[in-house]
Amino acid sequence: MRVGVLTGGGDCPGLNAVIRAVTKSLINHGQCEVLGIADGFEGLMLDPPGVKPLGWDEVSGILHVGGTILGTSTSNSANPLRDAATLEHVGRNVRALGLDVVVAIGGDGTMSLAHGLAEQVGLTCVGVPKTIDNDIANCERSFGFDTAVATATEALRRIESTANSHHRVMIVETMGRHAGWLALEAGIAGAADVILLPEIDYDLQAIVDFCRGREQRQRYTIICIGEGAKESGASLTVRERIEQSPDPVRLGGVGHVLRERLQPHLRSEVRTTVLGHVQRGGDPTPFDRVLATQYGHHAAQLVLSGRFGRMVTLQGGEIGSVEISRVANTQRTVPLDHGLLTMARDIGICLGEPGKQDARPAAAGSH
Ligand code: F6P
Repeated sequence: MRVGVLTGGGDCPGLNAVIRAVTKSLINHGQCEVLGIADGFEGLMLDPPGVKPLGWDEVSGILHVGGTILGTSTSNSANPLRDAATLEHVGRNVRALGLDVVVAIGGDGTMSLAHGLAEQVGLTCVGVPKTIDNDIANCERSFGFDTAVATATEALRRIESTANSHHRVMIVETMGRHAGWLALEAGIAGAADVILLPEIDYDLQAIVDFCRGREQRQRYTIICIGEGAKESGASLTVRERIEQSPDPVRLGGVGHVLRERLQPHLRSEVRTTVLGHVQRGGDPTPFDRVLATQYGHHAAQLVLSGRFGRMVTLQGGEIGSVEISRVANTQRTVPLDHGLLTMARDIGICLGEPGKQDARPAAAGSH
């Protein structure tokens, strides 16, 4: 069997661990040839196609390395569905390369492209979910998320000491698109006082009241905000729009918007740090290395058993799979009844909800 492997969409820590596990599992089986496809689906859109054989040597020593040895792309140049001529060209390349199946490692955008290619040119794929956003349907943990949470948590802890010294309100903006998983888990792990998520539109007055309460006591406040969060009645903060891209809206900057809204109401100086791509880079945590290896191994098993058109999943702690069509164009956001939200409220974290500000009496206290 001839199997293509590609990484699509934004990169995340653990991609190389998947490439390694898929390739080693398929090679060990003895009857597979593995071809690495460059820069997501773009490699199949080139003439000649951007591919290279992957053997044991190519994938050795990359388990712990961030990024992807295959390259990836989020731009329209990697959208094989963009027009009929491109689709036809991709179909020709797939036939010329003799590809039986492609292991597509990516997020919901990549799964949508994989689904579209199966329908339109008959290219079957096996999907592996990746994203620091942890927002893929039917997958309770995507690899890369644990590393991003660790990075954002570390940043929050570093911000706290300087916030304390200067008695400031420090806003830390995380990535995560329209899902608040990253802000929520990093916020809890990094001891944020206020956590603002895309799933709960925030009430400015609730945050003002909460920060004023803390000005009387701890004299500094840490706010962790997901990039997709917004004030009640306001619209999303969009950094850039890229027409025809599989992911046309780029978020970012809501931390600055919140600073401008908050500052006039507070005595403390308000400052913003946008964490940005530092959350996507670096070596995967041990947890992500293991999870990515399990996902890669399971993807190879799907290939070897001919179960194409499926994406690897983690549900109820068990590795399994679902049809790619069931995850294409879907997102998994934080449910409003999630236990972590209830817990956060119970331990006094402000989620920006009206009428639920910190009610503790003014007194000296610790963070
Ligand atoms: O989906 C992963 C992610 O890092 C999001 O959290 C973020 O909004 C987006 O990608 C940023 O994409 P880009 O690197 O294309 O700006």
